[in-house]
Amino acid sequence: MKIKEAVFVTSNTDYLKCPAPDLPEYAFIGRSNVGKSSLINMLTARKNLAKTSQQPGKTQLINHFLINGSWYLVDLPGYGYAKVSKVDRENWQQMIDNYLRNRPNLVCIFVLIDSRHDPQRVDLEFMEKLGQEELPFHIVFTKADKLKKSNQVTTHIERYRQKLQETWEELPPMFITSAEKGEGRDPLLEAIEAYNQAFEEAGPQ
Ligand code: GTP
Ligand code: MG
Repeated sequence: MKIKEAVFVTSNTDYLKCPAPDLPEYAFIGRSNVGKSSLINMLTARKNLAKTSQQPGKTQLINHFLINGSWYLVDLPGYGYAKVSKVDRENWQQMIDNYLRNRPNLVCIFVLIDSRHDPQRVDLEFMEKLGQEELPFHIVFTKADKLKKSNQVTTHIERYRQKLQETWEELPPMFITSAEKGEGRDPLLEAIEAYNQAFEEAGPQ
């Protein structure tokens, strides 16, 4: 899929103020600093569409980007950021949960996982919650360029698969990406394109 247009639409704390839920939507979520905003820039081939930072906790709102006038990418704040107060963290969590539960047009959630790290409880618990709520998700491994040898990426992902198999009967689709190198862009855009088509064929929500 060609990205002809990518525009910022709104930033919100409240899902009720998000754009009308009439176009297919894809949300990016994961721990702070995992590379959500960078991945959105990589996919859209726009350097500064979503704000990125070396400091965790950069994205603090629900950000909608309209792509090719026909679907939304959504950049969300990260979870598990230790340096904010408990109250702030709970508020963010509430904001994200409300958003995830109340967007009928949310076709798929992309859960981002840093390729370098062993499976972390906070991510596994988050995916379990999505499963309980029957919210469909895919896993996107990020920062693959930071692992020097390609077999290191394979080893890490195999370990992740094994961990997931302890609790999941069926594993979600997985993508390996590097926002730095553009790796994984085509497979992700192809998956989105197929979903967009299905959304259109399904008719009004
Ligand atoms: P929050 O909004 O704070 O939750 O973070 P985020 O998940 O949106 O992460 P962001 O995209 O801001 O990236 C965090 C840092 O990781 C930045 O310094 C990015 O340049 C870096 N980064 C993101 N993706 C990649 C990647 O694929 N490769 C490398 N080498 N660095 C990356
Ligand atoms: Mg961000």
